[in-house]
Amino acid sequence: MARKTVTDLFIHELSDVYSAEKQITRALPRMARATTNPLLAQAFNDHLEETQGQIERIDTLVEVAGIKLKRMKCIAMEGLVEESKELIEEIDKGAVLDAGLIGAAQKVEHYEIASYGTLATFAEILGMQDAKDLLGQTLEEEKEADERLTQVAGQINFEAEAEGGEEEEEGEEQEGRMASAGSRSSSGRGSSSGGSSSGGSSSVSRGKSNGSSRSKKR
Ligand SMILES: [Fe+2]
Repeated sequence: MARKTVTDLFIHELSDVYSAEKQITRALPRMARATTNPLLAQAFNDHLEETQGQIERIDTLVEVAGIKLKRMKCIAMEGLVEESKELIEEIDKGAVLDAGLIGAAQKVEHYEIASYGTLATFAEILGMQDAKDLLGQTLEEEKEADERLTQVAGQINFEAEAEGGEEEEEGEEQEGRMASAGSRSSSGRGSSSGGSSSGGSSSVSRGKSNGSSRSKKR
């Protein structure tokens, strides 16, 4: 059915995000299994639980508002989930994969934030106060989930960059044997001296020994 009114848009967008949430409940366990970082696994698992609550919230909304959702698949979420699968297939487990997974998860969160923001606004325009409140609750949860990922990234990005550095050094040692001296190309690093105090949260069990402290002059 063609969309002609704001009500049509609202129902379409709500059906879309309903499909998106369902897809996320299947993707999050896979992402939790792929990470070696307990904090990140916890964040994914917590959000899985939250997402199930968000699906129920849409069920409630549909009932309260007396509307009927369309059977449709959110193509955008299908693509975002596909990208997270590619990361898992392509990168070995460790901090670099974790950094990639956080980026993928944040794209999902931002898609949802945009969707629920739009839906809450439409609900307001349409005078659907109950719906607006329910959508607003989910919107806040999505923002918090995004914020939590940013916090976890603070530590993981630092580790990921160090992990890349170890490989860089190994490569250089080999190069050094073959040629005389290799000039280091400084890779674009996002965080300079991040991860200030990893405090008690460094219960990260990674296979790699972290012996080599690389002193990188800048
Ligand atoms: Fe969600």
